Amino acid sequence: MSISVVILAAGQGTRMKSTTPKVLHEISGKSMLFHAIDAAKNVSDDITVVLYHQAERIQKEITEAYEGIRFHMQDALQFPGTGGAMKGVEVKHTKALILNGDMPLVTTDSLLALMDGDADINMSVIKLDNPSGYGRVVITEGKVHEIVEEKDCIPAQKEIKTVNAGVYCVKKESLDSYIPALNNNNAQEEYYLTDIVKMAVDEGKTVHPVIVQEEEFKGVNSKLDLAHAEEIMQRRIKTEWMKAGVSMRLPETIYIDSRATFEGECILENGVSIQGSCHIISSHIKTHTIIEDSHIENSDVGPIGRIRPQSRLIDSHVGNFVEVKKSTLIGVKAGHLAYIGDASIDEGTNLGAGVITCNYDGKNKYKTVIGKNVFVGSDTQIVAPVTIADDVLIAAGTTVNKDVEKGNLVISRTQMKTVKNFFYKFFGEK
Ligand code: UD1
Ligand code: CA
Repeated sequence: MSISVVILAAGQGTRMKSTTPKVLHEISGKSMLFHAIDAAKNVSDDITVVLYHQAERIQKEITEAYEGIRFHMQDALQFPGTGGAMKGVEVKHTKALILNGDMPLVTTDSLLALMDGDADINMSVIKLDNPSGYGRVVITEGKVHEIVEEKDCIPAQKEIKTVNAGVYCVKKESLDSYIPALNNNNAQEEYYLTDIVKMAVDEGKTVHPVIVQEEEFKGVNSKLDLAHAEEIMQRRIKTEWMKAGVSMRLPETIYIDSRATFEGECILENGVSIQGSCHIISSHIKTHTIIEDSHIENSDVGPIGRIRPQSRLIDSHVGNFVEVKKSTLIGVKAGHLAYIGDASIDEGTNLGAGVITCNYDGKNKYKTVIGKNVFVGSDTQIVAPVTIADDVLIAAGTTVNKDVEKGNLVISRTQMKTVKNFFYKFFGEK
């Protein structure tokens, strides 16, 4: 594809009131900037991210996750503003699509619409009942004339409801001639990228307005905007998965990470939270269960189950109040109240209520290995590292702290003692 993309992400984001840079705030498990980069990658092979505030931190996160992204450092002290951000940016192709890093909801389809045609500038516009905060688009005789920032508007311009959504597709030759010519003679004393529109119009170039969806192009500037964007993103993610065959009970109560995937027929009950890169295949996740970064296949979990990262559940049943961490369960039943951490458990094994793997001695974590067809009685503590072979019976209340060989019964229990009629001696006769 022969259009470059420039993502503006140098702003401070003061309104977020956070030490984390604005564009690194997450929506559905992925930072806003990564949502923008992912959309950009769908339409271009030449992506430049413009940075200034906390540049090192943002650049590090990007290079850890992506290859081939270029960076440009804005000279924000001398040239503040969106136009200043474009100063010195070099693009590979003959056109550049300029995006804001704080627009996580923009879709690939909308970007393609903005890249279409042969105008010198395509600019995104939205019609808003309440245009406050946005640059107003002055249109005379059906033609775009200029963009006026709110702080520079005369009262009549403030009434304009057609606003600049902040994404543009501009010919490289226009960028090359207009960006160096920008000035900061305005209310904010900043270099406005928006001024290139008037420059182009004055030279008789074509500026084409592309009407876009408000929901997609709304910038995220505050925590309130972030929460609102999350709601929209969640609605989209769930709609897509329901279309793909995932059943959801009361979907508005369900959370699904943007990196999660489903296959086969899956059922998610109300209050379920699917976090991180989960892969869920033909499984039933019951009410108020949390699954994090795990693989669940042909299994049912919950209600109120918690599957923590790096777990694999295959052909298994995990019931209420069971926590599983970094463990592999294949053909296992753990119906109630258990903690299974750093374990690998094989087919036909049943864990009773209250079974705990003691995987941590205060310094290190240790592994538990349990074979096939093992019956683990209720309230058993398994002190790792330990290996329990196939066909083993563990009596209720046992503390297993040594390996157990195939076919054996293990039991560790203090003898039960009976003191006859003690109740009446203690409380007296009624
Ligand atoms: C900008 C537009 C406005 C438009 C609105 C849409 C300008 C002058 N105004 O205003 O017409 O209606 O977007 O959301 O462009 N940035 C930098 N360097 C800077 C300043 C900003 O890289 O020096 C980046 C920010 O990180 C952000 C983007 O540019 O991703 C937009 O900046 P922001 O301050 O949010 O612009 P608005 O005031 O919203
Ligand atoms: Ca903004």
